Amino acid sequence: MARIDQTKIQEILSKTDILDVIGEQVALSKKGKSYFGLCPFHEENTPSFSVEPTRKIYNCFSCGEKGNAITFLQKTKNMHYVDAVKNLAERANVTLDIDTSQYVNPHQTLYTINQEAKQFYQFYLSSTKSGNDAKQYLASRGITEDVITTFQLGLAPNEYDLLTKTLVGKDFLEADLMDLGLTKEGKNDRFYDLFRKRIIFPIIDDKQRVLAFSGRLYQGEENQPKYINSPQTKIFTKSQVLYNLNNAISAIKRHNRVILLEGYMDVIALYRVGINEAVASMGTSLTQEQVKLLKRYTNNVTICYDGDSAGLDATERAIRLLEAQDMSVKVALLEEGLDPDDYIKVHSKEALTNVINNDWIDPTEFRYERYRTHTDFTKMLEIEKFKKDVFNLIKTLPHTTIDAYLERLSDDAELKLESIKQDFTQYTKRQVSPSQRQRRNDIPIDSKYEIAERKLINYFIADVKYLNRFQHDLDDMLYINQVSRDIRHAIEDLYYFSDDEDYTTITQEELYHALEPHQISYYENKIAYKDELLSEDEFFDFIDTLKEYEIKRRIEDYNIKIKEALTNEEKIKLAKARQKLKEDLHG
Ligand code: UTP
Ligand code: MN
Repeated sequence: MARIDQTKIQEILSKTDILDVIGEQVALSKKGKSYFGLCPFHEENTPSFSVEPTRKIYNCFSCGEKGNAITFLQKTKNMHYVDAVKNLAERANVTLDIDTSQYVNPHQTLYTINQEAKQFYQFYLSSTKSGNDAKQYLASRGITEDVITTFQLGLAPNEYDLLTKTLVGKDFLEADLMDLGLTKEGKNDRFYDLFRKRIIFPIIDDKQRVLAFSGRLYQGEENQPKYINSPQTKIFTKSQVLYNLNNAISAIKRHNRVILLEGYMDVIALYRVGINEAVASMGTSLTQEQVKLLKRYTNNVTICYDGDSAGLDATERAIRLLEAQDMSVKVALLEEGLDPDDYIKVHSKEALTNVINNDWIDPTEFRYERYRTHTDFTKMLEIEKFKKDVFNLIKTLPHTTIDAYLERLSDDAELKLESIKQDFTQYTKRQVSPSQRQRRNDIPIDSKYEIAERKLINYFIADVKYLNRFQHDLDDMLYINQVSRDIRHAIEDLYYFSDDEDYTTITQEELYHALEPHQISYYENKIAYKDELLSEDEFFDFIDTLKEYEIKRRIEDYNIKIKEALTNEEKIKLAKARQKLKEDLHG
């Protein structure tokens, strides 16, 4: 990455009118010191997206997106950091020290080599005798010229070092070829090609740069891996890349959805049935980074993984990751043992399209089905577990949905609907939501715990180092009083979204500006120190007090879990864990 001086960045930001930048994309109207509009990062009907021109930041109260003019351009226009800075510098009439127009990516040579290698493989597939054999294999799998062109498929020759020799002949360095994993060093200092006699799938990013390759066997060679892939390199980290995103972006935007698949051949299968908004996580489980890549373009994901048990596990993990990022998820479930490609063969193209477009299920139904198929209905204990799992799954859903699932449960478990309904009512009564749980317990208002929570806020305002220490020692989700928590979060935002690295203390004016009226009065009445001094010893006492609270709360959680446990074995295990905590508390 090009380095731009931090003071330069500050100058650009300070000369930037953030209202101009954001106003180009969001209609804003003034309310107090801030401007409000509909958030560009999520769907909404009432404005919760605010821009503060003085502090030059934006913040969405609903989805939590926040940042400055640079991050705004990065996220809404999909710009890279340097390009966003360059764009703002031009608007603000600031000359940049680096000439970004001549800014060359330090890895440019590596991209160029991969581009050459891709063309080499493409040539080998299109214009040689062995290319013809490979094409026959591809044709047998329904892969026509159109697919070969779209996915830029190629062929690695069955030769020891033809690619290496060819590229070295073009004056590229062996060291760079090795860095890319294209070339390996064998015995006697001889270099050889990583990919030999394999069909080549280039992995290309949204800027059409060739990041890596994967090569598939197409003839015999039983004892070799089906695919081999480029290793991790300076320009390729598998977990941060999605196969086919380069081709899919415009279709993802057009249809406002993406289909998430496991492999290369699955992407191609969907292309064959006319669905172009498909990407693959390349056989590994989906990552946070990959979800972020998708979230730039859509919030709607249909998962269509293999219908085997590994595929179902991966689906469950993917659902969790996607829902954590507020994505709306559908599951296109293929029957046992089939992947999209097989599905076309066994059924038809229309059948595959139908599963994806119409016969998908939602995550709740997916989970219900998984529980059901894992249950042995001849064993009472397993039926009880199934019931409990389903109760947990549905308890927060709308009543009509709950009723529908209870009926299904009654059918599947062959139990009377009436008694299931009674059990469900019983079960949900015992359950207390975690947030209620935190406030529920016997801790009186103005307990030493609440006081510690409140008094710590003064420290956070005085010096960010105390906030950092707090976060290091305690779970950031922990809170006793909601208003105290919200004030703490407002303080965190002030520090963490300031552009000024030396911002280590908050003035009262800044604080009041960031707080809502009821928070200000709470702060004035319950929190603000009048004439007392802050002492480090006292700070650590407060931290210890909250640690004690945290342990007490966990003990309470165990009390509830022990009551809910189904077997004695489970109860004993939980009681042991609880005992350990009690020792911590008194030891
Ligand atoms: P699959 O075995 O499902 O492969 O692995 P596929 O894409 O459907 O290919 P065909 O139909 O068997 O020809 C899914 C993905 O896992 C990765 C690849 O990204 C593949 O597309 N994989 C699989 C590997 O990286 N190495 C392997 O040996 C196998
Ligand atoms: Mn397959």
